[in-house]
Amino acid sequence: MNFFDQIKQDFPMLNQSMNGNRLVYLDSAATTLKPKSVIEAVNKYYNELTCNVHRSIHSLSEQATILYEQTRDTIHQAINSKHREEIIFTKGTTESLNLLAHSLGDHVLNVDDEVLLTELEHHSNIVPWQLASERRKAHIKVLPINDSGELILEELSNLLTEKTKIVSFSGISNTLGTINPVKEVIRIIREKSNALIVLDAAQMISQVNIDVQELDCDFLVFSGHKYYGPTGTGVLYGKKHLLEAMPPFHGGGDMIDQVSFEKTTYNDLPFKFEAGTPSIASVIGLNEAFKYIENIGKPKIKEHTTQLYSILKNKLNEDEDITVHGPSSNQAPILSFNIKGVSNQDLATLISMDGVAIRTGHHCTQPLMKRLGVSSTARVAISLYNSEEDIEIFMKSLNKAKDILS
Ligand SMILES: Cc1ncc(COP(=O)(O)O)c(C=O)c1O
Repeated sequence: MNFFDQIKQDFPMLNQSMNGNRLVYLDSAATTLKPKSVIEAVNKYYNELTCNVHRSIHSLSEQATILYEQTRDTIHQAINSKHREEIIFTKGTTESLNLLAHSLGDHVLNVDDEVLLTELEHHSNIVPWQLASERRKAHIKVLPINDSGELILEELSNLLTEKTKIVSFSGISNTLGTINPVKEVIRIIREKSNALIVLDAAQMISQVNIDVQELDCDFLVFSGHKYYGPTGTGVLYGKKHLLEAMPPFHGGGDMIDQVSFEKTTYNDLPFKFEAGTPSIASVIGLNEAFKYIENIGKPKIKEHTTQLYSILKNKLNEDEDITVHGPSSNQAPILSFNIKGVSNQDLATLISMDGVAIRTGHHCTQPLMKRLGVSSTARVAISLYNSEEDIEIFMKSLNKAKDILS
């Protein structure tokens, strides 16, 4: 058995069937499956350690707090933040971006200022900035993409002005799998403006090693559940001096220093942004996800998934009824396609009968759908637990469904 066949055994979800067939899970851009070690860590908290963190001094709480804070240490090291308190736990990418749009957006945006986004963005990197812009009477500008789904960098310099206060963009497109030239984008932004830079790493975190100091982004956000961790976990990284200058997002327990009816003073970082009881079990589980992937190494995973992606792309390209969107010159193993005359929803429903799970729809990227000239796509997202056999089963099922539907 080769290394990646063995990997399947780490993921209990793959032991079960879907509609009587072996599960072929090709929806990892929506959420990844969780390895046993993550599930065991979550169970251990509920079976042996249930209590609140940061509050009580009994020994259960002390142990849970240590485990919870160890995840912060792990992420601090994994993304090479300068200070551990620059790592804020949230519920996910969406909450991290809403936090930024409120606490940063409301703090730095003024009338007629601009927020620059890209045509590739997920709705959660559009709508919070629109809401902030409406509150502050600022404007949204958009960096377009070319027909291969790549950002048009020549346009970037023209779009940046002294009014550009925030640029927020994704490292990897969740719909097309385009790997954006993040370093180059940041270099141009720094050269042409004083804008603050937010990097949406929701898809990037599972694909490439991230060093926030080397990238020199001001903020970075991602979700734990797209990185083999539990749902309900997310991260906001921010440069310390910027986080310190921002007002809190949510008010409540843990984020305060002193409260009176007249005035409240706030806790230090990271707690200023972590109001209320957090997703304790899930954050503890996320530590195991980081350890699991670090043990294997992202370059090894990339080699495996890139190979499967190429096999899939070549097979789909052989069929002239199929349009593969993009692909870009630097591509993650996420592939969006449409079949002439076939409804994506019908396709997904039929292949699900064969145990194959893919995602169809607009993938929370309606502006991108408009640019592609479609209302939805079918999307295959490959991960480390997929194999060549999975691609074969998918293709067989797709061809069968296509015969029925077209
Ligand atoms: C690029 C990107 N940004 C943001 C999000 C939102 O993530 P979440 O739903 O985990 O908050 C997603 C989820 O698909 C995504 O792929």
